[in-house]
Amino acid sequence: MATQITAVVNQKGGAGKTTLAMNLAAGLAQRGDTVVVDLDPQGSSLQWSTLGAVPFPATVKQMAGRWDAAALKKQFRAYQHVLLDCPPMIEIEATQMALRASDRVLIPILPSPVDVWSSLRLPAEIAEARKSNPRLKAFVVLNQLEPRSALSESMREALGEFDIPVLNASLRRRAIYRSTALDGMSVYQSGARGAAAVTELEALIKEVFPK
Ligand SMILES: Nc1ncnc2c1ncn2[C@@H]1O[C@H](COP(=O)(O)OP(=O)(O)OP(=O)(O)O)[C@@H](O)[C@H]1O
Ligand SMILES: [Mg+2]
Repeated sequence: MATQITAVVNQKGGAGKTTLAMNLAAGLAQRGDTVVVDLDPQGSSLQWSTLGAVPFPATVKQMAGRWDAAALKKQFRAYQHVLLDCPPMIEIEATQMALRASDRVLIPILPSPVDVWSSLRLPAEIAEARKSNPRLKAFVVLNQLEPRSALSESMREALGEFDIPVLNASLRRRAIYRSTALDGMSVYQSGARGAAAVTELEALIKEVFPK
């Protein structure tokens, strides 16, 4: 199957881009060769992948020098899955290129209307990217949901305004996402303690990625 490129984007800092990209990569690595391309100058995913006592299940790389969407596709065409961990900025070239190179974009958002409002530029940027990349699909992934709490009415309204479909699968707020990052692992390597997190990531993979 052709390489699937997935950008993880939100200009809001701390929404969970790196957490989602790295754990999704660990899940996708069980299906085919997977690389995370760290497009954030902060280098969080690259650093994450070097912390562990065991090798991270997916490769993590950075882009060197000047590049464009075509160069990125060419460089990683041997992989089944490419995940682009984007910096918390939408207007910079790396994010713009990522939107033009990708088959789909996942937008992690914390379940607060304020977080949706601070991301409201994204739908317009995605519409702009579709002019040169018409097949780009976009989905919101709710992250750090609290157990049992239903989405507030104001959150539903804010998401309605956002106008990008929200996945049924979401990520709960779980300590395991933080502790595995500190250990350079994914929830897939954390045995029974990570089982619930793996279940929600597997649901997300089934919902978003073609077989
Ligand atoms: N579902 C979750 N449950 C618990 N903690 C989480 C979850 N998702 C993310 N976090 C924690 O929230 C913090 C921010 O997450 P992360 O670094 O993935 O966000 P980011 O969008 O990549 O941030 P930046 O914009 O700085 O790149 C981290 O400490 C991470 O461990
Ligand atoms: Mg990050």
